[in-house]
Amino acid sequence: MNVGIDVLALATGHYVLDLRSLAAVRGADPQKYTLGLGQDFMSVPSPQEDVVTMGVEAGLRALERISDPTTIRLVLFATESSIDQSKSAGIYIHHFLKLAPSCRVVELKQACYSATAALQLAVAFVRQNPSDKVLIIASDIARYGLNTSGEPTQGCGAVAFVVSSSPRLLSLEKTTGVYARHIMDFWRPNGQDEACVNGRYSAVAYLDALGKVWEEFQHNGGVSFDRIDFICYHTPFTRMAEKAFVRHLEITQSTKKTLAHLSTLLTPALIYSRCLGNCYTASLYVSLLSLLENTAGDLSGARLGFFSYGSGCVAEFFTGILSSGYRDVLFFEAHAQAIAQRLLLTVPDYEAFYTQLSSPVFAPDSCYQTGPLRFLGIKNYQRHYDFAR
Ligand code: CAA
Repeated sequence: MNVGIDVLALATGHYVLDLRSLAAVRGADPQKYTLGLGQDFMSVPSPQEDVVTMGVEAGLRALERISDPTTIRLVLFATESSIDQSKSAGIYIHHFLKLAPSCRVVELKQACYSATAALQLAVAFVRQNPSDKVLIIASDIARYGLNTSGEPTQGCGAVAFVVSSSPRLLSLEKTTGVYARHIMDFWRPNGQDEACVNGRYSAVAYLDALGKVWEEFQHNGGVSFDRIDFICYHTPFTRMAEKAFVRHLEITQSTKKTLAHLSTLLTPALIYSRCLGNCYTASLYVSLLSLLENTAGDLSGARLGFFSYGSGCVAEFFTGILSSGYRDVLFFEAHAQAIAQRLLLTVPDYEAFYTQLSSPVFAPDSCYQTGPLRFLGIKNYQRHYDFAR
């Protein structure tokens, strides 16, 4: 039985900051951001956006391609920007997408890895229940603090994917390589809405984990590097994915793929990340969409590799085969519009948004640009939302 991703949709914040204007204010060389980190822009959520509003926007888009949403019997919400210690953000999604009551809903967390955990759990669930579908929402807002070294790698976005037994996009192959190890490269203690990060150590840990999962993947009988057509790497900033590709070449000692292939094999997968910034657990799947939507030719039948890394850390390498006709379920225009129509912020406006997001007030009348759902604020410790009129 083929099980995998049937539909994949993206949403992001409705504002954007040009990193060259950030560099000017922070006194940094803009090329440190654009070349050194490989980032041009970052999506910024307005005070009326959060992981739920972005998740609902991506979810509504994904459901456009699902003829019978009552077949969705499990909703998995993956995030490291959780809004509640008890209630799953998935319940808001389930409510606003009007899904059937006969449905399991739960939230998963392990830094940027949790969407991959959700995907593997969903695949196992669908193998047991082939007529059911799973909706995964991976939604995150990357926050490191104003004027920190992580600041130019911030961003936000959500992906919604439906997993089914007749996947129109990608069938997952069974062999995977996984790796877990307790390290302190990146974490966010309770009560803090900005991440703590040992930035340079996190980059070393990421590359180390790539080596470990590749070894495990090979040990488990996975295909060779040369039999994988394209690889999507977790992309906290695009230079990190490029470094992963270089490390992968070194580990595998490939004779078929060389550094000269970087621009053809990797660059299309990095286009969205360059202008959205880090979307944490959604980022790997943003990379998948970027590859598919920025490659002119038809890649049907191609084998894709995926390296998922979640600080702390858990990592996984797995592969999948693109379905024939996958281009018919993509959202080329809607995604291009979502990215192009973001409103450009000045640095002071971005800083004002950033500060307001830390202490949301209940302000139902304020009207920023948002997707279909707006976050109105918090009253009596409850989060309130409304569909934009
Ligand atoms: N022109 C061109 N390039 C320049 C430059 C200039 N004027 N100035 C510096 N650079 C280059 C540097 O040489 C460096 O490149 P290399 O790594 O190839 O040498 C690059 O720009 C970055 O410079 P620094 O290392 O000096 O930057 P920094 O220390 O200020 O910050 C960072 C870099 C530590 C990654 C920081 O952005 C950070 O903490 N980011 C958040 C953590 C992160 O993303 N970690 C990634 C792995 S963990 C993970 O993947 C999970 C996750 O999503 C968070």
